[in-house]
Amino acid sequence: MKVLHAAAEVFPLVKTGGLADVLGALPQSLVKAGVDVRLVLPGLPPIKAGLERLTLVRDLGALFGAGRVTLWLGQVGDSGVFAYVVDAPFLYQRPGNPYLDADGNEWADNVQRFALLGWVAAHLGTGELDDSWRPDILHAHDWHAAMACAYIAASPAAGVATVFTVHNLAYQGLFDSADFHLLGLPARLLTPKGLEFHGQFSFMKAGLTYADRVTTVSPSYAREMATEEFGCGLEGVILARGADVSGILNGVDGEIWNPATDPHVAEAYTSSAFGGKLRCKAALQKALGLRGDPKAVLFGVVSRLTSQKGLDLVLAALPSLLAEGGQLAVQGNGDAALEAAFKAAAIAHPGRVAVRLGYDEAFAHQMIAGADVMLVPSRFEPCGLTQLYALRYGTVPLVRRVGGLADTVVDTNPSTLQDSQATGFLFGPATSEALGQTVSQAIKAFAQPKVWRQIMLQGMARSFSWPNAANQYLLLYEDTLRRRKVLL
Ligand code: ADP
Ligand code: GLC
Repeated sequence: MKVLHAAAEVFPLVKTGGLADVLGALPQSLVKAGVDVRLVLPGLPPIKAGLERLTLVRDLGALFGAGRVTLWLGQVGDSGVFAYVVDAPFLYQRPGNPYLDADGNEWADNVQRFALLGWVAAHLGTGELDDSWRPDILHAHDWHAAMACAYIAASPAAGVATVFTVHNLAYQGLFDSADFHLLGLPARLLTPKGLEFHGQFSFMKAGLTYADRVTTVSPSYAREMATEEFGCGLEGVILARGADVSGILNGVDGEIWNPATDPHVAEAYTSSAFGGKLRCKAALQKALGLRGDPKAVLFGVVSRLTSQKGLDLVLAALPSLLAEGGQLAVQGNGDAALEAAFKAAAIAHPGRVAVRLGYDEAFAHQMIAGADVMLVPSRFEPCGLTQLYALRYGTVPLVRRVGGLADTVVDTNPSTLQDSQATGFLFGPATSEALGQTVSQAIKAFAQPKVWRQIMLQGMARSFSWPNAANQYLLLYEDTLRRRKVLL
Protein backbone atom coordinates (compact mmCIF):
# COMPACT_ATOMS: atom_id res chain seq x y z
CA MET A 1 0.00 0.00 0.00
CA LYS A 2 1.21 3.50 -0.82
CA VAL A 3 0.34 6.40 1.49
CA LEU A 4 1.11 10.08 1.02
CA HIS A 5 1.09 12.26 4.18
CA ALA A 6 0.57 15.98 3.62
CA ALA A 7 1.54 18.34 6.46
CA ALA A 8 3.21 21.64 7.26
CA GLU A 9 5.60 20.45 9.99
CA VAL A 10 7.94 17.54 10.56
CA PHE A 11 10.33 16.94 13.44
CA PRO A 12 13.25 17.72 13.47
CA LEU A 13 13.04 20.19 10.55
CA VAL A 14 10.07 22.41 11.47
CA LYS A 15 8.20 22.15 14.75
CA THR A 16 5.74 24.44 16.50
CA GLY A 17 4.05 21.65 18.50
CA GLY A 18 3.05 18.02 18.64
CA LEU A 19 2.02 17.90 14.96
CA ALA A 20 5.72 17.83 14.03
CA ASP A 21 6.41 15.00 16.48
CA VAL A 22 3.61 12.96 14.88
CA LEU A 23 4.91 13.52 11.33
CA GLY A 24 8.42 12.67 12.52
CA ALA A 25 7.36 9.32 13.93
CA LEU A 26 4.18 7.91 12.36
CA PRO A 27 5.54 7.64 8.78
CA GLN A 28 8.59 5.71 10.01
CA SER A 29 6.39 3.28 11.94
CA LEU A 30 4.19 2.80 8.89
CA VAL A 31 7.30 2.08 6.80
CA LYS A 32 8.32 -0.56 9.37
CA ALA A 33 4.82 -2.05 9.07
CA GLY A 34 5.43 -2.51 5.33
CA VAL A 35 3.66 0.60 3.97
CA ASP A 36 5.29 2.60 1.17
CA VAL A 37 5.05 6.10 2.73
CA ARG A 38 5.97 9.50 1.38
CA LEU A 39 5.41 12.99 2.76
CA VAL A 40 4.61 16.22 0.97
CA LEU A 41 5.80 19.38 2.72
CA PRO A 42 5.96 23.11 1.96
CA GLY A 43 9.39 24.42 0.95
CA LEU A 44 10.04 26.36 4.17
CA PRO A 45 13.76 27.19 4.52
CA PRO A 46 14.59 24.53 7.18
CA ILE A 47 12.74 21.86 5.20
CA LYS A 48 14.61 22.65 2.00
CA ALA A 49 17.89 22.79 3.87
CA GLY A 50 17.21 19.67 5.95
CA LEU A 51 16.02 17.17 3.34
CA GLU A 52 18.79 15.02 1.93
CA ARG A 53 19.52 13.88 -1.63
CA LEU A 54 16.96 16.21 -3.24
CA THR A 55 16.17 15.57 -6.89
CA LEU A 56 13.85 17.53 -9.16
CA VAL A 57 10.57 15.75 -9.90
CA ARG A 58 8.81 18.37 -11.97
CA ASP A 59 8.60 22.01 -12.87
CA LEU A 60 5.03 23.10 -12.07
CA GLY A 61 5.29 26.60 -13.51
CA ALA A 62 3.35 29.52 -12.01
CA LEU A 63 0.79 28.59 -9.33
CA PHE A 64 -1.10 30.54 -6.64
CA GLY A 65 0.75 33.76 -7.37
CA ALA A 66 4.17 32.13 -7.08
CA GLY A 67 6.07 32.82 -10.30
CA ARG A 68 7.69 29.40 -10.48
CA VAL A 69 6.93 26.33 -8.42
CA THR A 70 9.08 23.20 -8.56
CA LEU A 71 8.55 19.82 -6.94
CA TRP A 72 11.47 17.92 -5.44
CA LEU A 73 11.91 14.55 -3.78
CA GLY A 74 14.36 13.97 -0.92
CA GLN A 75 14.76 12.03 2.31
CA VAL A 76 14.14 12.97 5.93
CA GLY A 77 17.58 12.24 7.43
CA ASP A 78 18.34 8.53 7.54
CA SER A 79 14.76 7.68 8.51
CA GLY A 80 14.10 5.90 5.24
CA VAL A 81 11.12 8.21 4.65
CA PHE A 82 10.90 10.03 1.32
CA ALA A 83 9.43 13.51 1.18
CA TYR A 84 8.29 15.72 -1.68
CA VAL A 85 8.95 19.37 -1.08
CA VAL A 86 7.05 22.13 -2.86
CA ASP A 87 9.59 24.81 -3.70
CA ALA A 88 7.83 28.15 -4.11
CA PRO A 89 10.25 30.80 -2.80
CA PHE A 90 7.74 33.61 -3.23
CA LEU A 91 5.38 31.88 -0.77
CA TYR A 92 7.65 29.93 1.55
CA GLN A 93 11.14 31.45 1.60
CA ARG A 94 10.79 33.57 4.75
CA PRO A 95 12.18 33.32 8.26
CA GLY A 96 10.36 32.36 11.45
CA ASN A 97 7.11 30.62 12.20
CA PRO A 98 5.42 28.70 9.35
CA TYR A 99 2.06 30.36 9.98
CA LEU A 100 2.79 33.74 11.58
CA ASP A 101 4.93 36.76 10.81
CA ALA A 102 7.34 38.36 13.29
CA ASP A 103 4.47 40.32 14.91
CA GLY A 104 2.43 37.17 15.51
CA ASN A 105 -0.08 37.89 12.74
CA GLU A 106 -1.05 35.27 10.17
CA TRP A 107 0.98 35.67 6.98
CA ALA A 108 -1.28 37.72 4.71
CA ASP A 109 -1.00 35.19 1.89
CA ASN A 110 -1.69 32.05 3.95
CA VAL A 111 -4.63 31.24 1.68
CA GLN A 112 -2.28 30.78 -1.27
CA ARG A 113 0.54 29.24 0.81
CA PHE A 114 -1.60 26.39 2.10
CA ALA A 115 -3.90 26.03 -0.90
CA LEU A 116 -0.72 25.31 -2.86
CA LEU A 117 0.28 22.60 -0.39
CA GLY A 118 -3.17 20.98 -0.71
CA TRP A 119 -3.19 21.34 -4.50
CA VAL A 120 0.18 19.64 -4.90
CA ALA A 121 -0.80 16.87 -2.47
CA ALA A 122 -4.03 16.26 -4.41
CA HIS A 123 -2.30 16.18 -7.78
CA LEU A 124 0.33 13.77 -6.43
CA GLY A 125 -2.70 11.80 -5.24
CA THR A 126 -4.17 11.62 -8.72
CA GLY A 127 -0.81 10.56 -10.15
CA GLU A 128 -0.50 13.66 -12.35
CA LEU A 129 2.75 14.99 -10.90
CA ASP A 130 4.94 11.91 -10.49
CA ASP A 131 4.48 9.07 -13.00
CA SER A 132 6.59 6.75 -10.90
CA TRP A 133 4.67 6.92 -7.61
CA ARG A 134 0.94 7.17 -7.04
CA PRO A 135 -0.58 6.74 -3.56
CA ASP A 136 -3.60 4.62 -2.66
CA ILE A 137 -4.29 6.88 0.33
CA LEU A 138 -3.76 10.59 0.70
CA HIS A 139 -3.58 11.44 4.41
CA ALA A 140 -3.81 15.17 5.18
CA HIS A 141 -3.06 16.69 8.60
CA ASP A 142 -4.76 19.76 10.08
CA TRP A 143 -6.09 22.76 8.14
CA HIS A 144 -2.71 23.42 6.53
CA ALA A 145 -3.09 20.35 4.27
CA ALA A 146 -6.88 19.94 4.35
CA MET A 147 -7.55 21.55 0.97
CA ALA A 148 -6.09 18.43 -0.64
CA CYS A 149 -9.43 16.75 0.18
CA ALA A 150 -11.40 19.48 -1.61
CA TYR A 151 -9.22 19.32 -4.73
CA ILE A 152 -9.70 15.54 -4.82
CA ALA A 153 -13.46 15.92 -4.32
CA ALA A 154 -13.61 18.42 -7.19
CA SER A 155 -11.93 15.98 -9.53
CA PRO A 156 -14.34 13.08 -10.12
CA ALA A 157 -11.75 10.81 -11.74
CA ALA A 158 -9.37 11.02 -8.80
CA GLY A 159 -9.49 7.45 -7.49
CA VAL A 160 -7.26 8.04 -4.46
CA ALA A 161 -8.90 7.63 -1.03
CA THR A 162 -8.49 10.42 1.52
CA VAL A 163 -8.01 10.47 5.29
CA PHE A 164 -7.98 13.70 7.26
CA THR A 165 -6.58 13.98 10.78
CA VAL A 166 -7.59 16.80 13.10
CA HIS A 167 -4.77 17.66 15.48
CA ASN A 168 -6.42 20.83 16.72
CA LEU A 169 -9.88 22.04 15.77
CA ALA A 170 -9.25 25.51 17.16
CA TYR A 171 -7.02 26.47 14.24
CA GLN A 172 -9.23 26.32 11.17
CA GLY A 173 -7.71 28.28 8.31
CA LEU A 174 -10.58 30.77 7.82
CA PHE A 175 -10.39 33.18 4.89
CA ASP A 176 -12.45 35.91 3.30
CA SER A 177 -14.99 34.64 0.73
CA ALA A 178 -13.75 37.34 -1.65
CA ASP A 179 -10.54 35.26 -1.93
CA PHE A 180 -12.34 32.03 -2.88
CA HIS A 181 -11.50 32.56 -6.56
CA LEU A 182 -7.80 32.18 -5.67
CA LEU A 183 -8.37 28.50 -4.98
CA GLY A 184 -9.34 27.61 -8.55
CA LEU A 185 -12.25 25.51 -7.29
CA PRO A 186 -15.81 25.45 -8.68
CA ALA A 187 -18.16 27.94 -6.99
CA ARG A 188 -20.48 25.04 -6.04
CA LEU A 189 -18.05 24.24 -3.22
CA LEU A 190 -18.67 27.62 -1.58
CA THR A 191 -21.90 26.65 0.21
CA PRO A 192 -22.68 25.79 3.83
CA LYS A 193 -22.58 22.09 2.86
CA GLY A 194 -19.15 22.70 1.32
CA LEU A 195 -16.42 25.10 2.43
CA GLU A 196 -18.46 28.12 3.52
CA PHE A 197 -18.33 28.94 7.22
CA HIS A 198 -20.42 31.90 8.38
CA GLY A 199 -19.61 34.09 5.39
CA GLN A 200 -15.98 32.97 5.17
CA PHE A 201 -14.48 29.76 3.87
CA SER A 202 -12.73 27.19 5.99
CA PHE A 203 -9.81 24.94 5.09
CA MET A 204 -10.63 22.75 8.08
CA LYS A 205 -14.08 22.11 6.61
CA ALA A 206 -12.46 20.81 3.42
CA GLY A 207 -10.96 17.96 5.43
CA LEU A 208 -13.98 17.37 7.64
CA THR A 209 -16.44 17.38 4.73
CA TYR A 210 -14.61 15.80 1.82
CA ALA A 211 -12.19 13.24 3.30
CA ASP A 212 -13.38 9.64 3.10
CA ARG A 213 -12.44 9.22 6.76
CA VAL A 214 -11.79 11.74 9.52
CA THR A 215 -9.63 10.91 12.49
CA THR A 216 -8.32 12.75 15.48
CA VAL A 217 -5.61 11.91 17.97
CA SER A 218 -7.61 10.40 20.84
CA PRO A 219 -10.93 8.59 21.23
CA SER A 220 -12.17 11.16 23.77
CA TYR A 221 -11.45 14.14 21.51
CA ALA A 222 -13.24 12.29 18.68
CA ARG A 223 -16.37 12.35 20.85
CA GLU A 224 -15.77 15.87 22.20
CA MET A 225 -15.32 17.41 18.73
CA ALA A 226 -18.94 16.57 17.99
CA THR A 227 -20.20 18.69 20.92
CA GLU A 228 -20.92 22.39 21.17
CA GLU A 229 -18.41 22.76 24.01
CA PHE A 230 -15.44 21.55 21.97
CA GLY A 231 -16.61 21.69 18.35
CA CYS A 232 -15.50 25.30 17.64
CA GLY A 233 -18.67 25.76 15.57
CA LEU A 234 -17.93 22.67 13.48
CA GLU A 235 -19.74 20.16 15.70
CA GLY A 236 -22.64 19.88 13.24
CA VAL A 237 -20.30 19.04 10.38
CA ILE A 238 -18.51 16.45 12.52
CA LEU A 239 -21.71 14.94 13.88
CA ALA A 240 -23.01 14.56 10.33
CA ARG A 241 -20.00 12.37 9.47
CA GLY A 242 -21.18 9.83 12.07
CA ALA A 243 -19.06 6.68 12.16
CA ASP A 244 -16.59 8.09 9.60
CA VAL A 245 -14.96 9.90 12.54
CA SER A 246 -12.67 8.02 14.91
CA GLY A 247 -9.79 8.60 17.33
CA ILE A 248 -6.34 6.99 17.30
CA LEU A 249 -3.97 7.89 20.13
CA ASN A 250 -0.54 9.27 19.33
CA GLY A 251 2.54 7.43 20.52
CA VAL A 252 5.97 8.24 21.90
CA ASP A 253 9.05 8.09 19.69
CA GLY A 254 11.23 5.92 21.91
CA GLU A 255 14.41 6.85 20.04
CA ILE A 256 13.99 10.49 21.00
CA TRP A 257 12.15 10.24 24.31
CA ASN A 258 13.89 7.60 26.38
CA PRO A 259 15.45 8.39 29.78
CA ALA A 260 17.93 5.52 29.37
CA THR A 261 19.53 6.95 26.24
CA ASP A 262 18.59 10.66 26.24
CA PRO A 263 21.71 12.70 25.37
CA HIS A 264 20.16 15.93 26.65
CA VAL A 265 19.65 14.99 30.31
CA ALA A 266 22.13 15.30 33.18
CA GLU A 267 22.16 11.56 33.83
CA ALA A 268 20.43 8.66 32.13
CA TYR A 269 18.16 6.41 34.18
CA THR A 270 15.76 3.50 33.90
CA SER A 271 12.82 2.24 35.92
CA SER A 272 15.05 -0.22 37.74
CA ALA A 273 17.75 2.36 38.54
CA PHE A 274 16.39 5.85 38.83
CA GLY A 275 19.03 7.50 40.97
CA GLY A 276 19.80 9.42 37.77
CA LYS A 277 16.37 11.03 37.94
CA LEU A 278 17.20 12.59 41.33
CA ARG A 279 20.36 14.05 39.80
CA CYS A 280 18.36 15.34 36.83
CA LYS A 281 16.12 17.15 39.32
CA ALA A 282 19.10 18.64 41.15
CA ALA A 283 20.65 19.73 37.83
CA LEU A 284 17.39 21.34 36.74
CA GLN A 285 16.98 23.22 40.01
CA LYS A 286 20.56 24.47 39.64
CA ALA A 287 20.14 25.45 35.98
CA LEU A 288 17.00 27.44 36.77
CA GLY A 289 18.22 29.04 40.00
CA LEU A 290 15.68 27.14 42.09
CA ARG A 291 16.53 26.11 45.65
CA GLY A 292 18.44 22.83 45.55
CA ASP A 293 15.94 21.00 47.72
CA PRO A 294 15.22 17.33 46.90
CA LYS A 295 12.15 17.38 49.18
CA ALA A 296 10.38 20.28 47.44
CA VAL A 297 7.99 18.90 44.82
CA LEU A 298 9.11 20.35 41.49
CA PHE A 299 6.15 21.02 39.19
CA GLY A 300 7.09 21.49 35.53
CA VAL A 301 5.33 22.99 32.52
CA VAL A 302 6.60 22.62 28.93
CA SER A 303 4.04 24.19 26.68
CA ARG A 304 2.88 26.65 24.13
CA LEU A 305 1.47 29.50 26.22
CA THR A 306 -2.06 29.76 24.83
CA SER A 307 -5.51 29.74 26.40
CA GLN A 308 -5.92 26.10 25.23
CA LYS A 309 -3.30 24.98 27.72
CA GLY A 310 -5.09 26.37 30.83
CA LEU A 311 -1.92 27.85 32.30
CA ASP A 312 -3.79 30.81 33.75
CA LEU A 313 -5.12 28.20 36.22
CA VAL A 314 -1.54 27.45 37.26
CA LEU A 315 -0.93 31.14 37.91
CA ALA A 316 -4.11 31.31 39.99
CA ALA A 317 -3.22 28.17 41.98
CA LEU A 318 0.40 29.27 42.46
CA PRO A 319 -0.02 30.75 45.97
CA SER A 320 -1.32 27.45 47.37
CA LEU A 321 1.28 25.42 45.44
CA LEU A 322 4.04 27.53 47.01
CA ALA A 323 2.39 27.58 50.45
CA GLU A 324 2.58 23.80 50.48
CA GLY A 325 6.30 23.88 49.70
CA GLY A 326 6.15 23.21 45.94
CA GLN A 327 8.37 24.74 43.26
CA LEU A 328 7.34 25.68 39.72
CA ALA A 329 9.45 25.59 36.55
CA VAL A 330 7.93 26.80 33.29
CA GLN A 331 9.31 26.54 29.79
CA GLY A 332 7.15 28.00 27.08
CA ASN A 333 6.34 30.74 24.66
CA GLY A 334 3.25 32.28 23.16
CA ASP A 335 0.71 34.82 24.45
CA ALA A 336 2.47 37.99 25.59
CA ALA A 337 0.18 38.35 28.64
CA LEU A 338 0.93 34.82 29.88
CA GLU A 339 4.65 35.27 29.23
CA ALA A 340 4.61 38.48 31.27
CA ALA A 341 2.57 36.93 34.10
CA PHE A 342 4.93 33.97 34.47
CA LYS A 343 7.95 36.28 34.33
CA ALA A 344 6.42 38.40 37.11
CA ALA A 345 5.76 35.27 39.20
CA ALA A 346 9.41 34.24 38.86
CA ILE A 347 10.55 37.70 39.98
CA ALA A 348 8.14 37.64 42.93
CA HIS A 349 9.26 34.18 44.09
CA PRO A 350 13.00 33.82 43.48
CA GLY A 351 14.32 30.32 44.15
CA ARG A 352 10.81 28.88 44.02
CA VAL A 353 9.45 29.84 40.59
CA ALA A 354 11.57 29.84 37.43
CA VAL A 355 10.53 30.64 33.89
CA ARG A 356 12.32 30.13 30.60
CA LEU A 357 10.59 31.84 27.73
CA GLY A 358 11.31 30.55 24.25
CA TYR A 359 11.54 27.32 22.39
CA ASP A 360 14.36 24.95 23.30
CA GLU A 361 14.13 21.28 22.37
CA ALA A 362 17.09 20.09 24.49
CA PHE A 363 15.89 21.97 27.57
CA ALA A 364 12.41 20.43 27.16
CA HIS A 365 14.07 17.04 27.74
CA GLN A 366 15.81 18.36 30.87
CA MET A 367 12.52 19.71 32.19
CA ILE A 368 10.66 16.47 31.57
CA ALA A 369 13.43 14.41 33.18
CA GLY A 370 14.06 16.76 36.11
CA ALA A 371 10.54 17.67 37.26
CA ASP A 372 8.64 15.51 39.76
CA VAL A 373 5.25 16.42 38.28
CA MET A 374 4.33 17.61 34.78
CA LEU A 375 1.34 19.97 34.78
CA VAL A 376 -1.01 19.85 31.77
CA PRO A 377 -4.20 21.65 32.87
CA SER A 378 -5.58 22.12 29.33
CA ARG A 379 -9.08 23.42 28.60
CA PHE A 380 -9.07 21.04 25.65
CA GLU A 381 -6.38 18.64 24.46
CA PRO A 382 -6.74 16.54 21.31
CA CYS A 383 -4.03 14.17 22.50
CA GLY A 384 -1.15 15.88 24.27
CA LEU A 385 2.36 14.53 24.06
CA THR A 386 4.09 16.08 27.08
CA GLN A 387 2.11 13.89 29.51
CA LEU A 388 3.12 10.82 27.47
CA TYR A 389 6.79 11.85 27.57
CA ALA A 390 6.44 12.54 31.32
CA LEU A 391 5.04 9.05 31.94
CA ARG A 392 8.00 7.54 30.11
CA TYR A 393 10.43 9.57 32.27
CA GLY A 394 8.84 8.70 35.64
CA THR A 395 7.57 12.28 35.94
CA VAL A 396 4.05 12.07 37.26
CA PRO A 397 1.48 13.88 35.08
CA LEU A 398 -1.13 16.09 36.71
CA VAL A 399 -3.68 16.81 34.01
CA ARG A 400 -7.22 17.96 33.38
CA ARG A 401 -9.72 15.18 32.63
CA VAL A 402 -10.25 16.08 28.98
CA GLY A 403 -9.42 14.72 25.51
CA GLY A 404 -6.27 12.67 25.18
CA LEU A 405 -5.22 13.55 28.72
CA ALA A 406 -8.20 11.62 30.09
CA ASP A 407 -7.38 8.71 27.77
CA THR A 408 -3.74 8.37 28.81
CA VAL A 409 -3.44 9.16 32.54
CA VAL A 410 -5.03 7.06 35.32
CA ASP A 411 -5.96 9.01 38.44
CA THR A 412 -4.47 8.05 41.80
CA ASN A 413 -6.98 6.92 44.42
CA PRO A 414 -7.17 3.99 46.86
CA SER A 415 -8.72 1.72 44.27
CA THR A 416 -6.28 2.50 41.40
CA LEU A 417 -3.36 2.13 43.81
CA GLN A 418 -4.76 -1.21 44.94
CA ASP A 419 -5.15 -2.39 41.30
CA SER A 420 -1.68 -1.07 40.35
CA GLN A 421 -3.25 1.20 37.71
CA ALA A 422 -2.55 4.72 39.04
CA THR A 423 -0.16 6.75 36.87
CA GLY A 424 -0.96 10.39 37.70
CA PHE A 425 -3.50 12.90 38.94
CA LEU A 426 -6.60 14.24 37.18
CA PHE A 427 -8.94 17.12 37.96
CA GLY A 428 -12.29 17.98 36.43
CA PRO A 429 -13.55 21.58 36.47
CA ALA A 430 -11.26 24.14 34.82
CA THR A 431 -10.90 26.12 38.04
CA SER A 432 -7.90 27.08 40.13
CA GLU A 433 -9.61 25.48 43.16
CA ALA A 434 -9.87 22.10 41.46
CA LEU A 435 -6.28 22.36 40.24
CA GLY A 436 -5.10 23.53 43.68
CA GLN A 437 -6.76 20.58 45.43
CA THR A 438 -5.14 18.12 43.04
CA VAL A 439 -1.74 19.80 43.45
CA SER A 440 -2.20 19.33 47.17
CA GLN A 441 -3.08 15.66 46.68
CA ALA A 442 0.09 15.18 44.62
CA ILE A 443 2.22 16.87 47.27
CA LYS A 444 0.79 14.53 49.93
CA ALA A 445 1.48 11.48 47.75
CA PHE A 446 5.06 12.69 47.15
CA ALA A 447 5.59 12.71 50.91
CA GLN A 448 4.95 8.95 50.90
CA PRO A 449 7.99 7.61 49.01
CA LYS A 450 6.57 4.09 48.56
CA VAL A 451 3.34 5.39 47.05
CA TRP A 452 5.17 7.88 44.83
CA ARG A 453 7.55 5.22 43.59
CA GLN A 454 4.61 2.98 42.73
CA ILE A 455 2.90 5.73 40.70
CA MET A 456 6.15 6.55 38.88
CA LEU A 457 6.89 2.92 38.02
CA GLN A 458 3.35 2.24 36.84
CA GLY A 459 3.59 5.28 34.55
CA MET A 460 6.97 4.19 33.18
CA ALA A 461 5.55 0.75 32.44
CA ARG A 462 2.71 2.11 30.30
CA SER A 463 3.38 1.91 26.61
CA PHE A 464 2.03 4.39 24.07
CA SER A 465 3.81 3.09 21.05
CA TRP A 466 3.90 4.37 17.49
CA PRO A 467 3.96 0.82 16.06
CA ASN A 468 0.63 0.24 17.80
CA ALA A 469 -0.82 3.51 16.45
CA ALA A 470 0.56 2.72 12.98
CA ASN A 471 -1.27 -0.63 13.02
CA GLN A 472 -4.52 1.15 13.79
CA TYR A 473 -3.97 3.59 10.90
CA LEU A 474 -3.16 0.66 8.65
CA LEU A 475 -6.47 -1.03 9.51
CA LEU A 476 -8.26 2.26 8.86
CA TYR A 477 -6.53 2.65 5.46
CA GLU A 478 -7.47 -0.92 4.49
CA ASP A 479 -11.05 -0.40 5.54
CA THR A 480 -11.23 2.93 3.66
CA LEU A 481 -9.93 1.30 0.47
CA ARG A 482 -12.36 -1.61 0.83
CA ARG A 483 -15.31 0.75 1.29
CA ARG A 484 -14.22 2.84 -1.65
CA LYS A 485 -14.12 -0.23 -3.91
CA VAL A 486 -17.63 -1.20 -2.86
CA LEU A 487 -18.86 2.33 -3.62
CA LEU A 488 -17.15 2.65 -7.03
P1 ADP B 1 0.62 20.99 21.20
O1 ADP B 1 0.90 20.29 19.92
O2 ADP B 1 -0.80 21.36 21.38
O3 ADP B 1 1.53 22.13 21.45
P2 ADP B 1 1.59 18.52 22.45
O4 ADP B 1 1.65 18.13 23.88
O5 ADP B 1 0.98 17.55 21.52
O6 ADP B 1 0.87 19.93 22.39
O7 ADP B 1 3.04 18.73 21.88
C1 ADP B 1 3.88 19.75 22.31
C2 ADP B 1 5.29 19.44 21.82
O8 ADP B 1 6.00 20.65 21.77
C3 ADP B 1 6.05 18.53 22.74
O9 ADP B 1 7.03 17.84 21.98
C4 ADP B 1 6.72 19.53 23.69
O10 ADP B 1 7.85 19.00 24.31
C5 ADP B 1 7.06 20.64 22.73
N1 ADP B 1 7.17 21.98 23.30
C6 ADP B 1 6.16 22.81 23.66
N2 ADP B 1 6.65 24.00 24.08
C7 ADP B 1 7.98 23.90 23.98
C8 ADP B 1 9.07 24.80 24.25
N3 ADP B 1 8.85 26.04 24.71
N4 ADP B 1 10.32 24.37 24.01
C9 ADP B 1 10.54 23.12 23.54
N5 ADP B 1 9.58 22.24 23.27
C10 ADP B 1 8.32 22.62 23.48
C1 GLC C 1 -2.16 19.34 18.47
C2 GLC C 1 -2.85 19.15 19.79
C3 GLC C 1 -2.19 18.14 20.70
C4 GLC C 1 -1.71 16.92 19.94
C5 GLC C 1 -0.86 17.35 18.77
C6 GLC C 1 -0.35 16.17 17.95
O1 GLC C 1 -1.25 20.37 18.44
O2 GLC C 1 -3.04 20.37 20.48
O3 GLC C 1 -3.08 17.75 21.72
O4 GLC C 1 -0.98 16.06 20.79
O5 GLC C 1 -1.60 18.17 17.91
O6 GLC C 1 -1.39 15.35 17.47
